[in-house]
Amino acid sequence: MRPPPSWAESFTAGKDDANDLQLKDGFVSARHVKVTRREGRFFVVDHASTNGTWVGNARIYEAEVPMYTTLRVGESELTLEPQGAGEKRGGSFQGIIGDDPSMRQLAELVERVAPSSAAVAIFGESGTGKELVARAVHQRSPRAEKPFIPINCAAISKELIESELFGHEKGAFTNAVTARAGAFEEAHGGTLFLDEIGELPLDLQAKLLRALESGEIKRVGASRPLNVDVRIVAATNRDLMLDARQGRFREDLFYRLCVIPLNLPPLRSRRADIPQLVEHFLRAFSPKGQTVRIQPDAMQKLEAHRWKGNVRELKNVVHRALLLRKGPHIETGDIVFDVAPVMQANVLGEDGKPNWVPGTTMDQMIAAFEKAVVEVALEQLGGNRERVVKELGVSRSTLFKKMKEWGLTNEDKE
Ligand SMILES: Nc1ncnc2c1ncn2[C@@H]1O[C@H](COP(=O)(O)OP(=O)(O)OP(=O)(O)O)[C@@H](O)[C@H]1O
Ligand SMILES: [Mg+2]
Repeated sequence: MRPPPSWAESFTAGKDDANDLQLKDGFVSARHVKVTRREGRFFVVDHASTNGTWVGNARIYEAEVPMYTTLRVGESELTLEPQGAGEKRGGSFQGIIGDDPSMRQLAELVERVAPSSAAVAIFGESGTGKELVARAVHQRSPRAEKPFIPINCAAISKELIESELFGHEKGAFTNAVTARAGAFEEAHGGTLFLDEIGELPLDLQAKLLRALESGEIKRVGASRPLNVDVRIVAATNRDLMLDARQGRFREDLFYRLCVIPLNLPPLRSRRADIPQLVEHFLRAFSPKGQTVRIQPDAMQKLEAHRWKGNVRELKNVVHRALLLRKGPHIETGDIVFDVAPVMQANVLGEDGKPNWVPGTTMDQMIAAFEKAVVEVALEQLGGNRERVVKELGVSRSTLFKKMKEWGLTNEDKE
């Protein structure tokens, strides 16, 4: 959502385009709320809206609220901030939460580079928010009203990716019964987000480079090229520079895509942002009209975790905690990390049923069961791994590999 270009002393928000801030939200009324600023405080007046204006779990009709209050209207959130401090500070920028200096710098950089059409490459571990940043680049650019087309290069088969990107003519290949525009054409005037760009096959890297250099694309099976005006934002969790050096990624394409590199820090290097992110996800997943609170020791548990899955994992854990909680607050016991539950807890509950908790996959359950069986077998066979292999009838190399993964290997006996 874009803030109004410049906040006057007051503004109105609602679905109607006559508002200063138009909210495209099905749960917002035509004229929903008016906010007036006076000496650093805000006066909020709800215009008899259908679904109300909320602060936390209080529905407000007319209220004076301090700076940084978050109003909930329909499914949207409005945070009241001083003018200019902007969307970059106060923890949230285009839905990206984080006050750590690295996140603020990132928001500033996005703001600075968004207006141009230069290619942006976003680097970061899985779950750090690369897609969110890609969308922010688009939203803050003059292309915001035009399409944002995401293409996941890892999810599309090698055979289909060319046609996904560039489109095809009728009869270009066996299944091409009709002509079809590709992502480049769909994104015309807007932004094409090439996610997991490191997975793009080498031959397509060459075609992509040609398209970027000429500004022209050719549908599969077409004889004439088409002009396209597209801004490219690419993302990867790979070390693309290393891939380029080792010949897995074209170096010329690397430089073409990396005009503006943006690096997303892993969550473990900005732990101070964790409470803010937790509050954000609690607000997002709490039952309508209320915000569930979290106990301090549960928050400490979250702050101390390794977060290999970064913000995505945190989001899952908070969501899960809300579902698991028995009382009004989230307690330490409600915090169940992504892999830990099956690796640490008992595989079977007291009732003999699998100890499954929401968010655990079948693979994780099976892995946990395998591990439990191997542990018991090792115990009963005096730690003799060769006998374990024989008795369990499993492959020696697979078992040893798994034991190493589970940390069951006694290095001395290797
Ligand atoms: N700073 C953040 N503030 C709020 N939500 C975030 C933030 N970073 C990530 N998220 C949320 O976490 C989830 C994962 O983010 P996203 O999909 O952008 O990650 P990614 O880097 O693209 O991961 P992957 O490499 O696995 O595709 C999303 O639901 C996103 O909304
Ligand atoms: Mg992604």
